[in-house]
Amino acid sequence: MNTISILLAAGKGTRMHSPQPKVLHKICGQEMLRYVADAVGTQKENTIIVTGFGAEKVEDAMGIDYRYVLQEEQLGTGHAVMQADAYLNNPDDLVIIAAGDMPLVQRKSIEKMKEKLAVKDCAAVLLCAELENPTGFGRVIVEEDEPNSVVAIVEERDATEEQRKIKRINSSVYCFRAGMLKEALGSLKTDNQQNEYYLTDCIAYLRAKGKQVTYVEAEAEDLLGVNSLLDLAQVTKLMQRRINEAWMKQGVQIISPETTLIGPKCCFEAGVEIYPNNVIEGEVSIGAGTVLFPGNFLEDGKIGQNCKIGPNAHLRKGAVLGNNCRVGNFVELKNVSLDDGAKVSHLAYCGDGEIGKRANISCGVIFSNYDGASKAKTIVGDDAFVGCNANLVAPVKVEKGAYIAAGSTITQDVPENALAIARERQTNKPGWNWLERIKNKAKKH
Ligand code: UD1
Ligand code: MG
Repeated sequence: MNTISILLAAGKGTRMHSPQPKVLHKICGQEMLRYVADAVGTQKENTIIVTGFGAEKVEDAMGIDYRYVLQEEQLGTGHAVMQADAYLNNPDDLVIIAAGDMPLVQRKSIEKMKEKLAVKDCAAVLLCAELENPTGFGRVIVEEDEPNSVVAIVEERDATEEQRKIKRINSSVYCFRAGMLKEALGSLKTDNQQNEYYLTDCIAYLRAKGKQVTYVEAEAEDLLGVNSLLDLAQVTKLMQRRINEAWMKQGVQIISPETTLIGPKCCFEAGVEIYPNNVIEGEVSIGAGTVLFPGNFLEDGKIGQNCKIGPNAHLRKGAVLGNNCRVGNFVELKNVSLDDGAKVSHLAYCGDGEIGKRANISCGVIFSNYDGASKAKTIVGDDAFVGCNANLVAPVKVEKGAYIAAGSTITQDVPENALAIARERQTNKPGWNWLERIKNKAKKH
């Protein structure tokens, strides 16, 4: 028996007013759809994404490891699942279905659903919540004398006055037995208000066949769907709180959680300290004792222990720092490693390089890594000192203990322990007396 999942992501998301497919909008640096894929937790080759609007963009963003099926016309949620029919050939398989626009759904809910499905004769499990205001959602109808047993889901538009009073809503996350799902999909018709194939109608079909359908209850917050950019901002706030609280409980000091955004794939040791206004995305990992001063943007990076970063540093893809490193104000790092104790303290760009142990990269240094066509590498050895405003024109190697004079443009390798000076000699003209010169000029006019 396999577990597969089908993620519904064909909708345009009209109310987003965005040229991007809705499910690709990011929350704390990660696409909404990826949160859902991670929560359902099936292997990527067993995760089928139903695409439609912007199908290519969705495939590009999510990557080739997932499986994709195209729903050319959006004829309803049932029709969307029918597109994955080829994956439903093993009747005992467990199938999780989830909409791609509810990124707060949690793994623990999915696990509970799987457990319930394991009970004999259970053909489907829904994920539900009780909402004070259930407007717009499908309502879950249960057996009168058996409240855990679901009879049907009724869409709001098709519901009676009485049914609309029900507060238990369908979230659009389901767990089915594949054989039962396949059979139920075959029975779907479009005789409803929207003339669509409703996935929700599978439930009444299964009940009519004498099968058991039950549900798991989640927190209302977990089931929030994103339909507009306002929803996206609200969900981002909740996700931010969820992620930050989890790290604070594990010993990460976040001074201002409201202004700190941390991606779901970041990883910290206890004892990291984060000042306000840090944005940390991608797969950043940070060791104990490291301090992020205010205003850094970390898109990626592996940072060791007891480093000091910022304020206002930018770490891009491939920034790797050992222990006791310093990356200061307005420094940009890209695809570069700093070995233990290396320092890049102010106003520098280091791209495509290696910086050795205890090496010092002074204020205003630039690694000239790009000649307009291709990138080249700069290597700075252990204990080397690169003076202020030096340009290191790659490919170039500054050997161990070498010293680069301030303002030099270095185009050739510098041997171990050598001093390199590559700049015009200074000329002093005595008696220049500039203030007098200006006064005299003004008199003439
Ligand atoms: C659906 C449920 C409703 C539930 C609600 C929760 C049905 C009939 N109703 O309603 O019971 O309370 O979700 O949010 O299922 N999609 C496709 N192809 C389609 C149609 C939809 O991929 O042809 C995708 C959408 O992109 C979206 C998801 O399915 O991710 C849900 O579709 P949507 O139209 O938002 O469903 P609702 O009408 O809100
Ligand atoms: Mg709809």
